[in-house]
Amino acid sequence: MAVSSLILPHGGTLVNRIPSGLLRENLLQSAQDLPRIVLDEPHRADLLMIGIGSYSPLTGFLNRHDYKAVVETMHLKNGLPWSIPITLPITEDQAYDLVLDQPVALTDEQGTILAVLEVEDIFPVDVEHEAQHVYRTTDGAHPGVARLYAAPRWRVGGAIWLLQVEQGAFPHLPRTPQEVRQSISDAGWRTVVGFQTRNPVHRAHEYIQKCALEVVDGLLLHPLVGTTKSDDVPAPARVRSYERLLREYYPANRVLLGVFPAPMRYAGPREAIFHALNRKNYGCTHFIVGRDHAGVGSYYGTYDAQYIFNEFDPTALGITPLFFEHTFYCQRCGAMASAKTCPHSHEHHVILSGTAVRALLSRGELPPPEFSRREVIEELIAA
Ligand code: ADX
Repeated sequence: MAVSSLILPHGGTLVNRIPSGLLRENLLQSAQDLPRIVLDEPHRADLLMIGIGSYSPLTGFLNRHDYKAVVETMHLKNGLPWSIPITLPITEDQAYDLVLDQPVALTDEQGTILAVLEVEDIFPVDVEHEAQHVYRTTDGAHPGVARLYAAPRWRVGGAIWLLQVEQGAFPHLPRTPQEVRQSISDAGWRTVVGFQTRNPVHRAHEYIQKCALEVVDGLLLHPLVGTTKSDDVPAPARVRSYERLLREYYPANRVLLGVFPAPMRYAGPREAIFHALNRKNYGCTHFIVGRDHAGVGSYYGTYDAQYIFNEFDPTALGITPLFFEHTFYCQRCGAMASAKTCPHSHEHHVILSGTAVRALLSRGELPPPEFSRREVIEELIAA
């Protein structure tokens, strides 16, 4: 199947902001003398996501009009759904020094030039207003809100050119929408379900993935490998556990493992929409949203990340969400189940929180096989 016959990216065209040839050479040369903005890890990840087209139709960091529209209406100014404001924070001093319509160099902490941004807009933001809309809380203990509050309160908006593509920790796995689209096309899949995760794949995850796989052609197992909170399982250990699990329990011709280099925001419902739109850009036709997707603590209701899809025109989203109830192993059923399929009461269900699993592992105890496959636990312990 030709790549061109896959689902269209969000906005119709897959963005590619990685220049080549003479354009790249000229940009690199002129960048040496430009004023500089140093990017931290999550913003470098956003930069990469824009450059490779995962954030299509964005070609850069938001200007004030798109920022306001995204924060308050979950749409870009042009009417396309977009639920997370992708912005580049700068200090007040930088805001006064930068000049509109002039380029600025974006660097990493070592001073390596990563990109050039054409300054289109410079504007202050009200972080509490953004937090309330995007995270549904102004509580600084929320990890996404904490990151927002810790950053300076001005923003620079404008299109970018990505000059340096950081290799990343998993060069053997597809990372760009283009690569994944090519693999989907090579596999000949017409329908593909995307699965976002920031955790090891436990039995509940496996169950909902395989339920979805019963009705679509392929599964894109798409772990987020950008910045996560310090108590989440680090990506290298997770990736080893995914590879082992796929080898032993999934049909190789129906599953593709790729990495999703975005930072985690823990924005629950808003991030579920954002995750879905990104997976459309990677070529997925369907996207799994289970219980408390991208949630943290008790900031969101169990199914808020599903309800939010009702606030959008499904054709404008363009990717079909597959909703799953909270699933668990039921000892009476002798199977994975959910409240939709199991009549037995709570005491027959094996349900463990991430915190409970971490506590078990730190005591050298293993979670039960009904919760997690032995191979996954072995990889996590080895890490
Ligand atoms: S997330 O932050 O990446 O969403 P996680 O890796 O835990 O966290 O979840 C990945 C996906 O699986 C999400 O769609 C989530 O809603 C879903 N999920 C996780 N655990 C369960 C479960 N027990 N039952 C149903 N869905 C689940």
